[in-house]
Parts: sequence; C-alpha cells; structure tokens
Amino acid sequence: MCGIIAYIGKKEAYPILIKGLQRLEYRGYDSAGVALMNGSLNIYKKKGKVQDLVDFALDKNLSGTSGMGHTRWATHGKPDDVNAHPHTSGNGRLMLVHNGIIENYASLKRALEKQGHVFHTQTDTEVLVHLIEEVQKRGDLPIEEAVREALTNVVGAYAIVVMDNQDPDKLVAARKGSPLVIGIGKDEFFFASDGTPIVEYTKKVVYLDDEQIATATRHGGYEIRTIDNEIHMPFVQELNMEIERIEKGGYDYFMLKEINEQPTTIQDAMRGRLNAQEGWVRLGGMDDHVERVKNAERFVILGCGTSWHAGLIAEYLFEDLARIPVEVEYASEFRYRHPVITERDVVIAISQSGETADTYAALELAKKNGAFLYGIVNVVGSSIARLAHAGSYIHAGPEIGVASTKAFTAQVTLLTLMALQIGRARGTISDEYFNKLLHELEAIPSKVQRMLDSNEKIKYIAGEIKDATNSLYLGRGYNFPVALEGALKLKEISYIHAEGYPAAEMKHGPIALIDENMPVVIIATNKSLNDKIISNIQEVKARRGMVLAIVTEGDQEISRIADYTIEIPETEEPFTPLLSVIPLQLLSYHIAVMRGCNVDQPRNLAKSVTVE
Ligand code: G6P
Repeated sequence: MCGIIAYIGKKEAYPILIKGLQRLEYRGYDSAGVALMNGSLNIYKKKGKVQDLVDFALDKNLSGTSGMGHTRWATHGKPDDVNAHPHTSGNGRLMLVHNGIIENYASLKRALEKQGHVFHTQTDTEVLVHLIEEVQKRGDLPIEEAVREALTNVVGAYAIVVMDNQDPDKLVAARKGSPLVIGIGKDEFFFASDGTPIVEYTKKVVYLDDEQIATATRHGGYEIRTIDNEIHMPFVQELNMEIERIEKGGYDYFMLKEINEQPTTIQDAMRGRLNAQEGWVRLGGMDDHVERVKNAERFVILGCGTSWHAGLIAEYLFEDLARIPVEVEYASEFRYRHPVITERDVVIAISQSGETADTYAALELAKKNGAFLYGIVNVVGSSIARLAHAGSYIHAGPEIGVASTKAFTAQVTLLTLMALQIGRARGTISDEYFNKLLHELEAIPSKVQRMLDSNEKIKYIAGEIKDATNSLYLGRGYNFPVALEGALKLKEISYIHAEGYPAAEMKHGPIALIDENMPVVIIATNKSLNDKIISNIQEVKARRGMVLAIVTEGDQEISRIADYTIEIPETEEPFTPLLSVIPLQLLSYHIAVMRGCNVDQPRNLAKSVTVE
C-alpha cells in the first residue's frame, strides 16, 4: 500500500527519493510523486509506475536538499496525476504525503469549504493538508505545532510527512495506525514507511508510535512529541536488514528468488530453536509464558490472506500435537463481530508485515478483553510485534514479491515448533513421536531443495494449464489449507480464477463446474486419507477434468489415473504442507510469467495492507 520516503540533509534529495520509491514499489501502488524544496517548491506526480514519474521529470528542475516522495494505492479518488501525492495546502505553502484513511474527511471538508477552502482532488489527504493550513493560519503556528493540533481533530489512520515552504529546514512526520520509521544519518534524516528505502544510508532507526509527531531539522537534531504535546524519549534501534536481501540477485523476479530461498529461510526459522540430537524445541519468545500458553482454554488465531492460511495449518498442528482447541479467524471479521474473548484465551496473530490494519485492530480488541497476545511476525519492530505481549520472529528476511511464499513456509515452520513445544509441555506427544518429528523437521530444508529441483517439470505443466480461465485446488486434512494457498497464489499473480476446496466438499458444488477445460490440482500426499483422495480424483476424471496430482514419492496408483503428477519426498503428515506448497508456488509463478503478468506487482494488490 502507499509508500512514503522523505529526506532532509546535505545531499540532493531527488535521487534518494526516486531510489526509495523504487524500493517501496513492492508494497503495491498505482501512481507516484515527489516534492522538492530548494527555495521554491517543485512537485511532480504521475499515474503509473515510478519509471513514468522519472521519465516525466527528466527535463524538470530536480534540485533541492529536502523533499518527499510517495507511491499511492488509491482509496479515495481514482488513480490519476491529480489525486497522486504530494498534496499542497490552498496557500501553496505546505505539502504533505499520507498513507492511511482519514475517516472523518467528509465532515472536515464541509467545515473547511465553509471557511473558503477550495479542493481540487477527491482525496482525503488534500483535506488533511488544508486542515493543517487552517490551524496554522489561525494560530500563526510553527508547522509541527499546526500538525499536532490539526491531528487532534482527525479520526482514522495516517502516516504523514509535511513540509512548510516558509520553514524549509524542517521535516515533520506523524503516525497513527500506519507505519513510519525515522532513519538517523550523519547530518541527515529520513522518514519512510519501512526500512527498505533507507537501509543503504543508515541503520540507526526509530519506529514512531501511534499519536506521535516527529520533527527533524536540517542543522539540529530531531524531537518526538505525543499528540498531547509531551516530549517522548526516542528508542534508537539497529535496522535489521541487509541490502542484498532487498535486491533480485540475478533472478528475473523477487518471487522466484524468494521461492528459491526457502530451504534457507525454513532453516533460519528453526535456527537455535530446535535440536533433534538433544531432543528439545524452544522458542525464546515463549520463555516466561509457557504456563500461560499451555494452560490456555483455547487459541484464537488471527490473520489475513496467506497468513490466515498459515493459521489454518496451525489449527491442525495445535489440535493434533498439543490438543488445544483452536479457532482461526479472518481478522477483519473477528473485529467487527463482537467476539467472545476472555483472559483464558491466547490470541496468536500471524502477519508477515506486522502492519496489516485489520490484524492490528483485531489484536487491540483482544488485548482490551484481557487475552494474552502472541505475535508471529516477519518484520522486526513492526506494529503488531510491538503490540503483542510476546512473540517470535520468523526470520524470513524482507519479502518483496506481493504474493507471499517464503514468509508462508517460515510461518508454518514457526507454528510447527510452537505446537511441538506446547505439546511437549502438555504431555500430549509421546517421547517416541516427538523425537521422530524433531528429526524429520530438521530434514525438511533439504527436502524443500529437492522440490525446487522439480522446477523444469513444473514449468512444463504450467505450459499445459496457462490458458485456463478457471481452476480448482483440492486437498484434505493438513493439505486443505495448502489447496487454498495454491489457489490464492494462482489468482493473485496470473489472474486465473482459482478456488481452493476441501476435496470431499467438491461434491457439494464445484463438481458442477468440472469439464475438460477445468484443470484440477489435487494434493494427494496424506497417507491417512489416501483412499478417499483417490475416489475424489476418479470423480474428476469421470467428468473429463484435467488432474494435476501432488503425490508422495513412489506413488503408483494416483500416477496411473492423474494426467500429471509431481512428487514430494516422504515426510511426516504434519510437515507435508511445507513440501506440497512449493510446486504450487512454482506453478503459479510460471503460469503468470507465461501469461505476461507482472509477477512481483500484480494489479490492484498491495504487499502491506495498512488500510481497512
Ligand atoms: C496482502 C498481501 C498478502 C498477505 C496479506 C496479509 O494481501 O498481498 O501476501 O498474505 O496481505 O499480510 P500480512 O503482512 O499481515 O501477513
């Protein structure tokens, strides 16, 4: 979703802003803009890609040692040059970029119009900059004070950066509900939506908290105040990000790079947390909380998108291995349905970005009701990581491709460790089975590597499926969520309609769709349910559907009836998702490439959904 980068210092701002916007492209956007200050104020905005903005600005005045840039993902007002950010105040003095939604913008706009303000865009953001202008004018206030006062009238979510043409040595930023990080360099400051645009300049960062306003000055330092005007002592942290990890490293797309990183990222998620020889599993984040977690009345798992699918797999894991009842909820539904939550509940939030607005709000609600919150997050220092009482990072490194791949398998790995640790603490897993699972889990990264070695075969099958308009993904047990995830991957990046279903449910609806034009991907690796899956395949074949089956190595029976098969190495049933999802990721990747789609930045999608 919208991305922000701003700079003040001694260097030319434009190259820093453009490079920053390119780094933020992965978040998803439909227009981009920059504003530069160099005595005068120059703003350039363009619908489309950052490159369109660069081409447009080529022959313009690009000088200035302070400025701001923005990638916009449209909410209020269509994606076009006018609605793109930055936006300016009516007197042309202030400029502002914004990520989030100002919910009371309509009433603010009406009030401002009565005071003579004229608006040129359909955005909520333009209302905000006019509001700041009005407050500043009325009280003759310095910009940071005008921002603070104006924000006391705002309902909604925002991360903003504001500059004042008449106070050119200052950059002001504020946040509520949308992320913003301050980068502290030598004689220079950066504000950004995440660390990716600033990591090559500085690793010293401060994560702004909700209702905080930061002011950075060119020749001085910086200061953070709360919206109630109290000084806040900043907590400076080291940015945990390597520049190589946010570059493509020879791959055509980030998604392919990230798929191929999975043997390492799964290993990284386990590192120091599991020792099969010595027979233990331990998540550091669980220290001090094992009693609370193991005695939970139930687990409620919250997430969105792919993270919700990881949560569904966790439901099988926790119930199977730790015998704790689990409910998995879409965060967006949970928060609006007056859910029953008590102090005996442990709420587990799963989020790659740690910034998804619905997941964050659902967690706040659970916290208010006394639940214990455990976060499973990738981005270090993100909002959800900070809101949770405890948690574990999945250590997958930056995930740039919008379609989540390595974060998903790292989440599942982490949840597997958690289920094993809690199961052990509750005495619900026998010693023998526990040890067997530990040894097998250690072997998973090398088995994932073997899956990646099937790439050419998967590419060939992708060629056979690429022209389909609809497809069905079926799985049972642990592999039902994998079917959902496989279908999501395909529709996200190739725009082929795909549905995931529990295999047995096929008879209650989707079977009506099956004909020779309908590819059906069936994950058939569950030993316990194999006979039933074979019947499901027969049912598809009887209706001339094309079957791609994901089977366990050595399978004879399914290979005889399916049109195509892809084998996964033999493993324990709870770990099959970590292997069976890999060919589905590769399949959608190749299909999307063959269809000429932009794999890393699919249309309309955002990596980090910071609005509701
Ligand atoms: C977006 C992304 C998905 C992601 C979902 C949840 O839709 O495109 O890849 O699974 O948000 O994001 P989170 O960061 O909370 O895991």
